[in-house]
Amino acid sequence: MKTKVLVACLCVGAALCCVTIEASEKKYKPIFIIHGILSGNESMVEMAKKIELEHPGTEIQVTGRFGGWSSLEPMWHQVLEIGKDLMQFAASHPEGIHLIGYSQGGLIARAILQQFPNHNVKTFISLSSPQAGQYGTEFLHLIFPTLVRKTAYELFYSAVGQHTSVGNYWNDPHEQRLFYNYSRFLPYVNNELLSSRSEVYKHGLIKLERLILIGGPDDGVITPWQSSHFGYYNEKEEVIDMRQRETYKEDLCGLKTLDLNGKLTLVELSGVSHLHWHTNATVLEKFILPFLD
Ligand SMILES: *[C@@H]1O[C@H](CO)[C@@H](O)[C@H](O)[C@H]1NC(C)=O
Ligand SMILES: *[C@@H]1O[C@H](CO)[C@@H](O)[C@H](O)[C@H]1NC(C)=O
Ligand SMILES: *[C@@H]1O[C@H](CO)[C@@H](O)[C@H](O)[C@H]1NC(C)=O
Repeated sequence: MKTKVLVACLCVGAALCCVTIEASEKKYKPIFIIHGILSGNESMVEMAKKIELEHPGTEIQVTGRFGGWSSLEPMWHQVLEIGKDLMQFAASHPEGIHLIGYSQGGLIARAILQQFPNHNVKTFISLSSPQAGQYGTEFLHLIFPTLVRKTAYELFYSAVGQHTSVGNYWNDPHEQRLFYNYSRFLPYVNNELLSSRSEVYKHGLIKLERLILIGGPDDGVITPWQSSHFGYYNEKEEVIDMRQRETYKEDLCGLKTLDLNGKLTLVELSGVSHLHWHTNATVLEKFILPFLD
């Protein structure tokens, strides 16, 4: 712990007395940040700077990997590469670190926690991330201009489609059979399809001290927006909230355990569109900073 010497003066009668006192300065845990799709570390610099301003002395690493077009590379590839960096950062901070992921970066971050269960992440903040999948083409038109939501599965549920990050978490509620057959990523990290890694995946999440899921109805890109809270469509496109879904009820990946232990916080905010979560001052001050101790 760093100490800071303060000089305190007070008037006693006619005399001015000054004393020096030692005050301890709060030491904040280091933070690792992962950016969203089609952007890079530069998009998260503003947030990092604001955190440093409010919490002086915080060490922050913003991943420089998979910026721009390379953010479309397969999820597992990104998870393993960024995960190695995170584990290195974690190793030099044995007191523990915090992790923030924005948009696709929040899904990468979550899978890193599961793939590297020896991590020492205390608080993980998922900022508007498609944790239960995506069934909307809003931002995808930048990449696939002619993509139509109803038929996008034909592209994504194929060997080729699985070579894109979006294909790995595209979750078409009308094509669940193909989703489970083709998707190489989401059904596994959600433990909806069991693998030899399932227990490990669960352990990697359960050991968190806090899981903060932030999202809201005016997001406009994450579809349904409740995917940011692990809620999702059923086959009739009705949204089922996290606590009513099998993933939670069966505690497949540890959400229920976290919840019952008071470690899971859902934050729902209106008035924030998808591209503003990481730059909105209210979101940062009220719903991110208080969790970064
Ligand atoms: C962003 O990442 C690039 C590539 O890794 C790196 O050269 C640059 O220093 C990083 N910038 C910041 C602000 O982290
Ligand atoms: C399931 O996926 C495999 C490729 O991973 C494919 O060969 C097979 O035809 C698919 N089955 C169905 C029913 O789509
Ligand atoms: C910032 O977030 C608050 C909700 O916390 C919202 O009411 C406001 O509209 C947002 N502002 C912008 C510019 O997104």
